[in-house]
Amino acid sequence: MGMSNTMSETNIRLAATEDRFSSDPEVSYTLAAPYYYDEALFRSEQSRVFAQSWRFACHRTEIPHTGDYVTLGLDNESILIIRDKDETIRAFYNVCPHRASQLVKPGSSGNKPSGISCPYHSWTFNHDGTLRGASRCERVKNFNKEDFSLTPVRVEELCGFIFISLNIDAPSLGAQAVGLDDLLNRECTGLEDYSLVARSDFDVKTNWKVIIDNFIENYHLTLSGPEHKKFADLVSSEEHESKIRTHDVWTEFISPAGRPDNSAFQWTEPRNLGGGNDFITIHLFPDMGFVLFPGVNALSLFYTRPTGPETCTLVTSYYAPTTELDEATKAGVHYFSDELSPEDIELCEGVQRGLRSRAYHQGRLMVDAERTGLSEHGVHAFHAWIRSFMLD
Ligand code: FES
Ligand SMILES: [Fe+2]
Repeated sequence: MGMSNTMSETNIRLAATEDRFSSDPEVSYTLAAPYYYDEALFRSEQSRVFAQSWRFACHRTEIPHTGDYVTLGLDNESILIIRDKDETIRAFYNVCPHRASQLVKPGSSGNKPSGISCPYHSWTFNHDGTLRGASRCERVKNFNKEDFSLTPVRVEELCGFIFISLNIDAPSLGAQAVGLDDLLNRECTGLEDYSLVARSDFDVKTNWKVIIDNFIENYHLTLSGPEHKKFADLVSSEEHESKIRTHDVWTEFISPAGRPDNSAFQWTEPRNLGGGNDFITIHLFPDMGFVLFPGVNALSLFYTRPTGPETCTLVTSYYAPTTELDEATKAGVHYFSDELSPEDIELCEGVQRGLRSRAYHQGRLMVDAERTGLSEHGVHAFHAWIRSFMLD
């Protein structure tokens, strides 16, 4: 490809008149195929989408003590998220202001009880990012410790979940995702105190958006593989009862529960988290979701960590008010992580292999006028958001 694959030319090609994406979901086609495999588009997406958005890092109960930290890779950066004393959670670029050593290993987590010490020349930083000590600095002309704090990253908490953004101008997550905290708090009382009770990571051979497209739409739910067909009894079969509603940067799918003795997993009592017992999936732009199953006393999270244009890690994790899981909750976790998700991944990898075909450029979104739960208008909203970042 060489020079013909520069970002601007790729963008011009995608914005060209043969593009059949439409602002009207009812006649629109999907994102064009190169969005799912093009190297230049992937790099551009890192800075235009991920670095501009709010990104899920962890729940606050995953870093409960002063000095507990996790890291998150984001747009060629490593970000350190650490708990300061008095409940404050902070985030910094994981880079030493002296000569650029990374302070902790990317991907690591742990505890730094007395502050962060650089592995190279042992400059030490307080949990608030200020420089505490630098060996021999008193001998250096005009050296002011105040000039060498760690560079902060924005942090915001939503129902106990910690999000970070590299965009210092981005509207707050609360202002962007209006109503999301209300929905989560309505369904899960005391979510700030939930803890991580299970987690599965999957290496997936697809662009991250193939996974998210699949997460948002329920059109495939009873039409694809055997694990999906089990949904038939898990959720209500009354089509008019389920709806997908799109909001700014988030989308909700709600369907009443079906039978307790369904073939996906057995439950006896309705969900007991303080809200209802509906099957609910929520997509939060760009790449995360929440899931609530009938009879399951845990909130599932679903998010990706892109690792290349055609690869990502998919994480399914579960947060609950207690670590003692009842049988229905264990069965629901097992069904979602060990049976349904592997089948979804197989479906998605089949899509990824097809996306490079010269016979495919864009597909027709199956949107109905009533915007039912089986309509693909949620995927349309997602694609419109992606385009708004990529084609501005
Ligand atoms: S690079 Fe961190 S102390 Fe020198
Ligand atoms: Fe699925």
